[in-house]
This record gives sequence, structure tokens and C-alpha cells, in this order.
Amino acid sequence: MRRSALAMLAVAAASPAFGQAYPNKPINLIVPFSAGGPTDVMARIVGERMSKELGQQLIIDNVTGAAGSIAMGKLARSAPDGYTIGIGHLGTNVVNGAVYKNLNYDLLNDLVPIALLPSNPLLVVTSNQVPAKDLKELVAYLNANASKISGGTAGMGSGSHIGALAFFAVTGTNYQLVPYRGTGPAVQDLIANQIQIMIDQSSNSLPHVRAGKLKVYAVTAKQRTAAAPDIPTTAEAGFPGIEVAIWHGLWAPKGTPRDIIDKLNAAAVATLKDPEIRRKLEDLGQDIPTPAQMQPDAFAAFQKAEFAKWKPIIDKAGVKIE
Ligand code: MLT
Repeated sequence: MRRSALAMLAVAAASPAFGQAYPNKPINLIVPFSAGGPTDVMARIVGERMSKELGQQLIIDNVTGAAGSIAMGKLARSAPDGYTIGIGHLGTNVVNGAVYKNLNYDLLNDLVPIALLPSNPLLVVTSNQVPAKDLKELVAYLNANASKISGGTAGMGSGSHIGALAFFAVTGTNYQLVPYRGTGPAVQDLIANQIQIMIDQSSNSLPHVRAGKLKVYAVTAKQRTAAAPDIPTTAEAGFPGIEVAIWHGLWAPKGTPRDIIDKLNAAAVATLKDPEIRRKLEDLGQDIPTPAQMQPDAFAAFQKAEFAKWKPIIDKAGVKIE
């Protein structure tokens, strides 16, 4: 039987009309960063609850490296049968499209948006050994000690890298960036003062700030985050213009049947309506989208708009990997 006919049979076999309803086995959920980091934590919280809606487990598959571009490549090459989906964010599914010149897949056309997920602003955090007591003192300290300071990111194009670029642009600082496979391991090195600063997703740093293991100076948002009302905004701390939030989302390979996309979307919408899930995510500083914003078509339009917004910024910053 010719290959195309086989591929069509495989896709048809996945659709509800072809025998057992979808899903009839566990679903692989590709996570582009290390375990324990903000994207992995989001995937586990949302994935576990979606499993209840779908009646099948979502199995976490951490595929790390190159700021998530390796994971999205694996997702784009996966069978469009609904049994492999992926979580990503502003960095992996927008900014990487501008940073990586030779991606062997198209972020907008080889991946199908399933649902927009929560977004969280970034926190300017340092190890406890950094002597500054507020953002102005921190910027002065960074400028005076630039050669001695290292900052952690999850690679060029990642959320923590986007944050560092915005921080550099407004504060005029510039320190060495150390890439990790995720901000989960990076924040452990920050606590241990192996690196001194991160512009990190609040969901990753806030628990450590609350535990007194990190110092925080500001949140990169227009308003203070309800989860930590004592943290000033970057504007309140003297540096307006650093407003970055990392939104997450779910995608499937191109060709995944629409009725499967809709079923996965409905499970995600029900998950983010669950009061216990909302409390968990909001406590980490996550802002939860509305069901209308989460819809596949609305999410696709949002992603396209983000592309149009970020590509000129990244091109102007001259950040590119051949
Ligand atoms: C992670 O989960 O490690 C982050 O999302 C990485 C980043 O983009 O900063």
C-alpha cells in the first residue's frame, strides 16, 4: 500500500469516527526545558488535570536544548494523530523563529495551536550575596562589577534571555549570560551564588524569594502581581519600559484532525476553570486567559500578532544564530 495511503490511514485511525474514541491511549506531552522549571511545572499542573478530562494520562517528555527549538522540531516531526502534543511559550514558539535562522520547521505552519495557557511576568532576582537593596543600587552595582557578574538564562531566545535583553536595553547594564537547559537548574545555581542574577519567570523564582533564598528587586509588569503585592514594578523601582510576560501554550503537529484539537482545547479550558488549579497557578504569579482567548483560532491569531511584534525587536537587537 502506497506511503500516502498509509499516512492517511494512520490519521483516520486516530479520528473518533474510526473505531475507539480519541484518546484511547496515553498522550505524549513534549516539554522543551528541564524538569522543575516553570514550563515543566506548568505542564505537570495542567497535564495532570487534563488527563482527568481526557481519561488518558499525559506523559511528560522533557526534550531540552537550544532554548526549546529542539523540542519543537521533534513535535513538528511527530505523527499528527493526537498522541503527541507539546507545551511551549513566547520564546520557543515566537522569538526562536526570529533568533534561529535555520530552523528546519516553520513555527507558524508546521505546528497547530491547541490552547493559550497562562502567562507570568518576570522577576529581577539575585543571589543573597549581591549587596544591593533596591533596583537603582543593583544597576549601579552591575555597572561597577560587570566583569564579575554572570546571569543565568535558558539559552538564546528563551524567556529568561528575552528578559535579560529588555533589562540591558533599559538599564544600560550588560553582564555575561550563562545558558542552561532550563531555568529550573539555573535558579539552583543562583541560590548557590554560582551565578548572581536572573530575569526569571515569577512562577520559578517566587517560591525561593518567599523562602528567603533569593533577593527580588522588581516585577516586569505594569501592575504589581497579586501573588506578591510587595514587589514593586520596574517603573516604580525607577526603570519604566521593562514590561515582559511569558505566555505559554499547547501545540500539535500540522495535520492533527480538528476534532482532536477541539477535544484537547476543551480539556484545557475545563482545566483552567478548576478552582484548585487556578489557585495553584495564581499563587505562582500566573495570569489565566479567558476561555475565548484560549480558543485555537484566537490563539493562532495572537501568536501571529506576537510574531509581528517581536521579530523587529529581535532583529534590531541583532540576536541571531546561524
Ligand atoms: C523553563 O521552563 O526553563 C523556562 O521556560 C525557560 C525560559 O524560557 O526562560
